[in-house]
Amino acid sequence: MTTIRLPGLIDIHVHMRQPGGEHKEIWETGTAAAIAGGIGTVLAMPNTSPAVVDEASLDAALGLAAAGARCDFGHYVGAGPDNAESIATLARRAAGLKMYLGQTFGDLRLDDISAWKAHLEAWPEEDVIAVHAEGSALKTIIELAESIGRSIHICHVAGADDIRRIADARERGVAVTCEAAPHHLFLDQTTDLPPGRAEVRPRLGTPEDRHALWEHLDAIDCFATDHAPHTLAEKDGDNPPPGFPGVETMLPLLLTATHRGLLDLDDIVFRLHDRPVELFGLPVDEGSWVEVDVDASFEIPMSGQSRSGWTPFAGMPVKGRVDRVAIRDELAYEYGEVVAAAGTGRDVRRKGSTKR
Ligand code: NCD
Ligand code: ZN
Repeated sequence: MTTIRLPGLIDIHVHMRQPGGEHKEIWETGTAAAIAGGIGTVLAMPNTSPAVVDEASLDAALGLAAAGARCDFGHYVGAGPDNAESIATLARRAAGLKMYLGQTFGDLRLDDISAWKAHLEAWPEEDVIAVHAEGSALKTIIELAESIGRSIHICHVAGADDIRRIADARERGVAVTCEAAPHHLFLDQTTDLPPGRAEVRPRLGTPEDRHALWEHLDAIDCFATDHAPHTLAEKDGDNPPPGFPGVETMLPLLLTATHRGLLDLDDIVFRLHDRPVELFGLPVDEGSWVEVDVDASFEIPMSGQSRSGWTPFAGMPVKGRVDRVAIRDELAYEYGEVVAAAGTGRDVRRKGSTKR
């Protein structure tokens, strides 16, 4: 047994499904899953139903989060076709602005480049714009951000061409950051999954795509789960929605990768704590930490705390277990038991955080 203490980890990309998708996940269950996975802060995406695209929907989303969250949280707002000016006034309360330029779940997709430009120009430069863009949309948004001279963050990079394009832009000095999701690092098209369960956006890549991510680890600022819970019945049904749950399994998978020499513990802490803090201007609390037993081996179970009830990683042997988690000096998780109560999580954007 080798117990190691890491700072409270931050997952900058999760979907909590409240309001509108409560049968898939709610804040109580999604943050129980996050804590069980060693995560002390989650930043939630705005593609709820209705979507978070104005002040009333942000108020409602933050109210639901404050009532249900067992860990700390922030909430993104969504870029719509004609809300660039109005949504920018909410930047101080939001984790960031999310722009969906690619195929996705929900109705937030933006096709019109003039709307992309309006958002890049209106959103405050010091606040994050997180973009889902692949292929030609990625090329265009990087060029646009470069010409306007503002930073962008690219969500869940999955393809070899995309990560190379981002690495090249960074070498040219363009302010583009990015994240990679565990499923694109550990699964690919050769993984044996029923077709509905394998649906995710961006799609699982080829083994070459997957290897390219590992080869460009230096260009990857953050790991983020894109925890996108859908029920097993939905995934195995006629019209399977894209997305995988991920908060419970990310840290054991990454710790396993350290044993294989793919990265080290500092690489994990940098991408799940230091860089998220820096990018999003998040508060740091010495009393928020996670203890892992890096030598404990187990097999990933099919279901855990998430209401979705499944994981694409089920059955994978891993080495590295989350034993205890504390959030702001309160024990939140202890040897398999979630002890943090619903509603104890704090909004990282409320007054008094380090950024504002
Ligand atoms: C996400 C979801 O289900 O909300 N699905 C996914 O496949 N990643 C949407 C998204 O992040 O694009
Ligand atoms: Zn997502």
